[in-house]
Amino acid sequence: MRHDVQVELIKKLIERLDEGTNVDAGGLMLQSTATYVDLAQAETEMAEWFGDMPHCIGLSGDLPGPGSFLTSDDLGLPILATRDDNGMFRAFVNSCRHRGALVETEPRGTRKRFTCPFHSWSYDAGGTLVGLPKEDHFGHVDRECASLRELTAEERHGMLFVQPNPDGGLDLDDHLGDWLNDEFATWKFDQLVPFNHDVYDTACNWKLAMDTFGETYHFGSLHKDTLFNTFHGNVQCYDDDGGHNHRMILCRRDINYLRHQPEDEWDITVAGLPVYWIFPNVILMPFRAGVFLVRAYPTPGDPGRHVSKVDFYMKRHLLDATGQQAEEVKDMVATIAQGFANIIRDEDYVMSASQQKAANARSLNQVVFGRNEPALHHYHRTYAAKLGRALPEVVDQVTSL
Ligand code: FES
Ligand SMILES: [Fe+2]
Repeated sequence: MRHDVQVELIKKLIERLDEGTNVDAGGLMLQSTATYVDLAQAETEMAEWFGDMPHCIGLSGDLPGPGSFLTSDDLGLPILATRDDNGMFRAFVNSCRHRGALVETEPRGTRKRFTCPFHSWSYDAGGTLVGLPKEDHFGHVDRECASLRELTAEERHGMLFVQPNPDGGLDLDDHLGDWLNDEFATWKFDQLVPFNHDVYDTACNWKLAMDTFGETYHFGSLHKDTLFNTFHGNVQCYDDDGGHNHRMILCRRDINYLRHQPEDEWDITVAGLPVYWIFPNVILMPFRAGVFLVRAYPTPGDPGRHVSKVDFYMKRHLLDATGQQAEEVKDMVATIAQGFANIIRDEDYVMSASQQKAANARSLNQVVFGRNEPALHHYHRTYAAKLGRALPEVVDQVTSL
């Protein structure tokens, strides 16, 4: 993030803290709970938002060198992502050209050749068919036509994006927009190393998982014994570019240290925690030690369930620490990873699952997003617009529910 932007955001946070104010979304939003349970909507979301859009499937550090790979089965078709012999990020349908078996079944690793377990057809990291046993018996197969089916893929700002629709386009200028393209370029995500990977399978719609990242109003209540010790609640910065992504800045209690420092030494990761939302399902939170990447994926056929993949990527110099410093880094990282699990899985997602129960029971027609929850307004306004539906109603005050 540009330093002048950091200073501007920090000043805004300090002003809001001192004046007891918060960002104002301009009204209260009424959102139908059907969005969390409607099966037809869930199928549209899966087909259009997950099956036919650019998706961040990891960071550059997940594919550290030629031959490294990762697999994904979150977007409606099996994906094999690789770094080829030239160091290029590539993505393929993870289905063998012989009879369609999964070519690679491991979640990640490094291979010179990808050999299908069924009859041992093998492919290189560029997807080219390089081995076909007993071809004199099987019959000739032109190698040119039997490469793994390639998907459009692009590595940008240290993020790995794939378009899961083999016939779809991938336009990251449009998907990220000018604002995030400029800002992500400053974070150096490409220099981070994957350190910790968690999977939370939770009985709530994927959008409830996103919702929980969209406000700080609950910090002093739900997180009063955890996150609230290091963050102020009910204060934040919120910005979007009128498109389908946004950025919040949560306010750390350490912001007070900056009051006594010259502005040119101010650092947004001391004062706050940036929380970026990339439509539809990605939360990115850069902080001093690295970045958290959260991806929420729907469970096909069950709008009341989803899987969150939570990855922590660390700055390399921390990983390279030696001696006493290495021990301190190990402790710090364990605390960070455990803290994240304790807060997101054991506090936030417990609430998300309880909200899902009410939605499943159709016991409430709608829920309310406050003026101090602009990110929630933006999520749900964006979802409605993408579905071609009327935007959720915004009112000055709630007079009936
Ligand atoms: S299905 Fe892969 S080698 Fe036969
Ligand atoms: Fe929370």
